[in-house]
Amino acid sequence: MTATRGLEGIVAAESSICSIVDGVLCYGGINIDELAEHATFEEVVYLLWHGALPKRDQLETLKKQLGEAAAVPAEVIDSIRKYPQGIHPMAALRTAVSSLALYDKEAQDMSPEANYRKAIRLMAQTPTLIAAYARLRKGLEPVAPKADYTIAKNFLYMLKGEEPTETAIKALDVALILHADHELNASTFAARVTVATLTDIYSGIVSAIGTLKGPLHGGANEAVAKMLTEIGTMDKVEGYVRNKLDNKEKIMGFGHRVYKDGDPRAKWLKQMSKALTAQIGRPELYEMSVKIDDMVTGEKGLKPNVDFYSASVYISLGLEIDLFTPIFAISRMSGWTAHIMEQYENNRLIRPRADYTGPVGKHYVPIDQR
Ligand code: ACO
Repeated sequence: MTATRGLEGIVAAESSICSIVDGVLCYGGINIDELAEHATFEEVVYLLWHGALPKRDQLETLKKQLGEAAAVPAEVIDSIRKYPQGIHPMAALRTAVSSLALYDKEAQDMSPEANYRKAIRLMAQTPTLIAAYARLRKGLEPVAPKADYTIAKNFLYMLKGEEPTETAIKALDVALILHADHELNASTFAARVTVATLTDIYSGIVSAIGTLKGPLHGGANEAVAKMLTEIGTMDKVEGYVRNKLDNKEKIMGFGHRVYKDGDPRAKWLKQMSKALTAQIGRPELYEMSVKIDDMVTGEKGLKPNVDFYSASVYISLGLEIDLFTPIFAISRMSGWTAHIMEQYENNRLIRPRADYTGPVGKHYVPIDQR
């Protein structure tokens, strides 16, 4: 037995949700470029869950279900009030989603219908939890969701307590579409491994959130924003990147396990970054990003991934830097739940083997002889 480090190139599941073939990303067979241009996030959620775009009445039903499910139990909000200061919002989200399960009477119901209803609740309530936590940590009361708002609009509304602009709603909606699914990325794989033991959907999502939190995965968007802040001005870019490259340090937002020739989502975020940073009068954020991109691509041949330009997009929307990864989680909740439901449909325990490299033939030694 020989191990494949990081399971690179290993095909670990069959799935009809999302494909990456020759660098082209599709959800349910539809190119991500078409979805980013024409779809809404709710249509994409339906597509991931059902394998086809919704007809008008199906979309209206889903939007109604999501809107009506967006409020979270008061007990969960009360428990968030008691979280210690200074924790990372992804840690708060991991705990808050876990506590949603405690108040869900269907938490242990493994029927496909109950799991679909729980997927709706998880999708609808994740933005509410994040917005509530973001306000409570600043001493502000949470803002209740509105049942007739889309996920992007509701999240921005609950976060800031005021009506968001159409530009902000559209930008967030497109970002949510772009991050919604990515076949067996680390967090989705973690979710599938978890539920393949036939544990409940909430346990799978908690695994996924914990996995997305890491800087090599979803946490990279926050790391990119911190890097832009640390660099500060255009004249410092070259020295900063040079230093990182010379010290063989990773530059966040670059490289990808699957895409070696560029991430198809990055061009959309780059375009949005250019427009939005200009609109807020901070074009230097885009210009610095392009310069970093040119240097890293030019010297290392590494292309920006989905996280690189999303950082300047979210800064332009006035979002706090440590909320970037939770926003990724809002989007990826659609993909995680789709994959969990697909795993349950055709389940087999996921249990690989390890290539043992430790000592052999040793014996137990009594404690006073060691
Ligand atoms: N900056 C500098 N060098 C890099 C980078 C980077 N961002 N990414 C990869 N490399 C280098 C590695 O140092 C390594 O070089 P070596 O062969 O000389 O040792 C080589 O490229 C291969 O890199 P690995 O880390 O082995 O590639 P892997 O496929 O395991 O990792 C990953 C992919 C984790 C995305 C990696 O490129 C990385 O750490 N990027 C930065 C973090 C990041 O942006 N994560 C978000 C990914 S997208 C997402 O999850 C949503």
